[in-house]
Amino acid sequence: MRIGIIMNGVTGRMGLNQHLVRSIVAIRQQGGVTLPGGGTVVPDPILVGRTEAKLREIARAHGIERVSTDLDSCLANPADAIYFDATLTSARVDHVRRAIAAGKHVYCEKPLAPTTAEALDLAHRARRAGVKHGVVQDKLFLPGIRKLKRLVDGGFFGRILSVRGEFGYWVFEGTDDDRPPQRPSWNYRKEDGGGIILDMFAHWRYLLDHTFGEVGAVQCTGATHIPERVDEDGRRYAATADDAAYATFVLAGRDGDIVAQFNSSWAVRVYRDDLLQIQVDGTLGSAVAGLRGCKTQSRAETLRPVWNPDGPNPFDFYDHWREVPDSGDVGNAFKAQWEMFLRHVAADEPFPHDFVEGAKGVQLAELGMQSWAERRWIDVPPLRNGEGGRG
Ligand SMILES: NC(=O)c1ccc[n+]([C@@H]2O[C@H](COP(=O)([O-])OP(=O)(O)OC[C@H]3O[C@@H](n4cnc5c(N)ncnc54)[C@H](O)[C@@H]3O)[C@@H](O)[C@H]2O)c1
Repeated sequence: MRIGIIMNGVTGRMGLNQHLVRSIVAIRQQGGVTLPGGGTVVPDPILVGRTEAKLREIARAHGIERVSTDLDSCLANPADAIYFDATLTSARVDHVRRAIAAGKHVYCEKPLAPTTAEALDLAHRARRAGVKHGVVQDKLFLPGIRKLKRLVDGGFFGRILSVRGEFGYWVFEGTDDDRPPQRPSWNYRKEDGGGIILDMFAHWRYLLDHTFGEVGAVQCTGATHIPERVDEDGRRYAATADDAAYATFVLAGRDGDIVAQFNSSWAVRVYRDDLLQIQVDGTLGSAVAGLRGCKTQSRAETLRPVWNPDGPNPFDFYDHWREVPDSGDVGNAFKAQWEMFLRHVAADEPFPHDFVEGAKGVQLAELGMQSWAERRWIDVPPLRNGEGGRG
């Protein structure tokens, strides 16, 4: 069975690398996605964007036939059932509204929208139109996070006390001749949907909710550490969006509240195993996870250091951790979620990562920004089936 997908934003970083090449092209090369009742669904993409020459070049490189610069005529074609969006966050709402109005099932990048109200509006519209909907929640499909989840579900930690996330790296400002910025400039302009809070809290929300317990409160301080950058055309611009966020969340864990602290920054240098590292400490054990690996230290293996500044430290603290073995790598995280979404559309398989889930990520970002502005803790009210809004 063929399934037509209108793919918008495939000239961008995420759209091209993760969604087109690593997901849709890879799924086509493996012969499609097997459906539960037998049969296979093979994605047939049409690449849509603003510059035909770029689209043709990408299409040619990956054996794709169809490209278009006219989104509305693509949406009018009943032969393509799915609309996918990896354009800028600020452009997404308009595209997704048009796709829903055309009766398409919609899958898109996070954050779903710049505001909770707009995200919930999309969820309402999708439900009313009876179309299937989903948002990228790729971190849940990473081997390191899956290992953490396995440890949580198996009770490895005992009572979980705290979670600490350290995310970030140095994003070059554009002022060094030999080291161009490794992220698009819109990320640093609020008016274009930029900012690390909107970008990363969308991830932290689903990661925390699905791994440890629902986020119930947030306290956040943001910063714009680098006030000026240089864009893709070599022009200086004012960085109007936050490039770092220092946040604490309270989660409803199975055995009581869990305190989670997350530092997110595009202005730090990395001295850890990965760009994202999460440490979990519980009464019976601890774990440190990166994107792929995860190490544990059980209570029995726990060292007993004593504070003594007068002599050399007798321990190599890194020595007393053991790797959690790999188990059934699901491959690229984006591809794994695409396969789920395609099974959801083609065979009605469950798909928990819907627009309401996407709206929760936007909500946490919005409440984080409110907390920063008002210098206070803010409760995160439940969002059920599109009900509720700002805290
Ligand atoms: N899941 C993740 O881990 C992850 C990581 C990075 C970015 N993202 C999200 O992916 C989206 C794209 O980010 P990116 O880093 O790939 O950005 P990018 O700037 O590299 O790509 C943006 C794409 O949108 C297109 N575009 C720009 N303005 C447009 C407009 N007005 N109308 C139509 N198309 C337009 C561009 O041509 C390009 O194809 C963002 O929403 C971002 O939050 C997700």
